[in-house]
Parts: sequence; structure tokens; C-alpha cells
Amino acid sequence: MSDLTDLRINGHRLLQQIEALGKVGAREDGSCCRLALTDDDRMGRDLVVSRMRELGLEIQIDRVGNIFGMRRGAEDLPPVMTGSHIDTVATGGKLDGAYGVLAGLELIRTLNEAEASTRHPIAVAVFTNEEGVRFHPDMLGSLVYAGGLGVEDAWAIPATDGPSFGKELVRIGYAGAMAPGSIVPQSFVELHIEQGPILDAEGGSLGAVGNLQGISWQEVVIRGVANHAGTTPMRMRRDAAYGAARVVCFVRDLAREIGGTQVGTVGAFKVAPNLINVIPREAIITVDLRNTDEPVLQAAEHRLGAFLRDLADREELEIRTRRLARFEPVVFDEGIVSVIQEAAEFLGQPIRSMTSGAGQDAQMMARICPAAMIFVPSIGGISHSPSERTRPEHLELGANVLLQTILRLAK
Ligand code: HGY
Ligand code: MN
Ligand code: MN
Repeated sequence: MSDLTDLRINGHRLLQQIEALGKVGAREDGSCCRLALTDDDRMGRDLVVSRMRELGLEIQIDRVGNIFGMRRGAEDLPPVMTGSHIDTVATGGKLDGAYGVLAGLELIRTLNEAEASTRHPIAVAVFTNEEGVRFHPDMLGSLVYAGGLGVEDAWAIPATDGPSFGKELVRIGYAGAMAPGSIVPQSFVELHIEQGPILDAEGGSLGAVGNLQGISWQEVVIRGVANHAGTTPMRMRRDAAYGAARVVCFVRDLAREIGGTQVGTVGAFKVAPNLINVIPREAIITVDLRNTDEPVLQAAEHRLGAFLRDLADREELEIRTRRLARFEPVVFDEGIVSVIQEAAEFLGQPIRSMTSGAGQDAQMMARICPAAMIFVPSIGGISHSPSERTRPEHLELGANVLLQTILRLAK
């Protein structure tokens, strides 16, 4: 078995696959909307499964809809696994998640064309509901796969638009039989766009991702009293929207005051009855806090809690919080990170260590096997937006670093 290191992926073909999948759930504004377990997600899944079939992969689907395409190895050993997700946020781009899945399939196609054999099998994974937009928490499929949540609990999770996870999974025909976690990989390597500004600002090297920040998601329901906007004196108001606005400012000021890697976002903001001449009786917002340092993230959560209690007193509001997701920071496997660095160096490409600001399926797979990630630059650091872009040469380069990494791990 030659060491195969002279193999390279077909960049043009990869770009074509990205464009083809990007058409599924495409919206007028150029965005991609494949919310988990919708018909758009189903069509995306069907496309990827048909590609896996064309490549002769053995396909397995687990009980939360995670999809695995396996290429046999020379020996019956634990597979080297790559992959990501194909669900998107409602206003997503073509690359977040999809790039990692399609680069994995391009890698398989390249090996097939070369009739190359690897000692370990190679698997490409597609995890369910990584974005966590329609079903909370995010990384739900890989969380169940890694044993962090039971299948029944996942099935019971309601979509933000109503139906349960389990019902939707059955409806789209992806309620598989495989027990999550039954394939324990030798290692897991995820290729992903950075979604932040660092690599692009540095002239576009690659990133070897050694760690990932902790995530805290909460829903905050603020209840006041609806009343007439014209007749109610300011001193008599219990204005839920005002309370929510104070939380938005507090979260931003808190993140800036803590500094370092701390970020804070109020992304969803609903007001009822949302009428020009009615003092809002209710506001429902979400708070996303993240930090690489767990104690600092906990302190931020505690300060938010204290602020909400004080706000409720001062403004005579009823404020309730509900946890939607909470994952501690993750440190990836140094050994895998060094294989990634070795692969990049072999290709003569600069690569720098970095942290993932975004949640990733790799953070869940790191619970059951050595895992790490490869980042390529996002132009302008933009993601979760129709303006999400990466230069074609970087997409090709990232996929080649993935190929060389997988070859090193699988031989
Ligand atoms: O929220 C995240 O970080 C990821 O996009 N699910
Ligand atoms: Mn992603
Ligand atoms: Mn995302």
C-alpha cells in the first residue's frame, strides 16, 4: 500500500458539490435555509445519501437521524471519521457544515479513483440539528451520539414551530435503527469554515483548532402589564419590552467588561402584543454567552441572574429563565492537532493554532474519541449569513489538508 501522500482532491468537483447542495433550501436573497428536520433538510439529506451510494459507501442511519457513510479499510478496525452537518440557520450560507461533509465525500471519491486502500475504514458523518435553531440545544445529533442525551429525551424536544423532534424525524423518513454511538471512531477530524475574522485578517492561513469555547443558551421570558400607550403615566408602567431592552444592554456591557474571549448576544427578541399603542405585556428573548474559561462563563451567568432579579424588582416585572443549552469549553486531542499541522506542513501551507468560537459536532465527538478540527478562512469573518464566503483556493486547500490528515490517521 503506497503512502498515498501524492493524492490530491479535485477542487473543481468539490466546488460543484457545494453549489449543488447550496441549491437545496436556497432563498431569493442567496441564503440557505435547511432548518433541521424540515423538507429542505430532508432534500439535503437525500442528496448526500445519494452521493454516498454513488461512492459505494455502506450507509447507516442512527435513531436521531445521524447519517454515516463508511468506506471499508484493509482491516476491520475502528474507522477514522470526518464529517459535520448540513442543517443551517434560517439565514445561512452554503458552507457552514456542508463544506465539511462534502469535503469528506470528495476525499472518498479521490481514494476510489486511485483505487487506494487504507488500513482503517474511513467514515463520513452527517449529524442532525447541529445549529440548534429549530430544536434546542445545538449539536443535538452529535450530543446524543456521544452519550450526552438519551434518544427518548431528544425525540421529545419540541421544535420552535411546534412538532416534536421524533415526529419530524419520522415524517422526513430519517428515523434510523442504528443505536447512536455504536461506531466508536479511532479519531474524528472536522473540516469547517472559521466563521470568524482571524484567518482572513492574517492573510488567509489555515487553522488547527485545539479548543472550543463553552456555550450558555437561555430563554428569558419577561412579563409586565399591557396598557394604553397614551393614557398610562410613565410611573405606572410595567413594560416588558423596556425590561428586555435593558437585558440587551446589560449582556453587551457585561461581555465588554469581562473582555478576553467573552461574548454575549441577545439574538431572538419577540414582543407581545407588538402594537404601536400598547405597552408590551410580554417579551421573550434568548441570551447566548460564551467563553473559553468555564469559571468566567459561570460568573457571567451568575451576574446575569442577579441583574434579572434586580430588574424584576425595580420594574415590577415577572422574569423567568429556561436553559436551552450549556456546554463546557472543550480541549481537543493534541495528537490529532499535530497530525493536522504535519499535513499542512507537508502541503507547504502555513497553519496556526486557534480556538473555535462556534459550537461544533467535533466537541461532542471529543467525548468518545480523539478529535480536532481544521479551519479555513471566512472572508470578512462573516457566517450565519448569505454573505458567508471562502476563497475557492482555500476550500480546496482545506480539503487537501483533511485528505492528508485522514491518510495519516488511517494508514
Ligand atoms: O451556535 C453555534 O455556535 C453553532 O453554529 N451551532
Ligand atoms: Mn457549523
Ligand atoms: Mn452554524
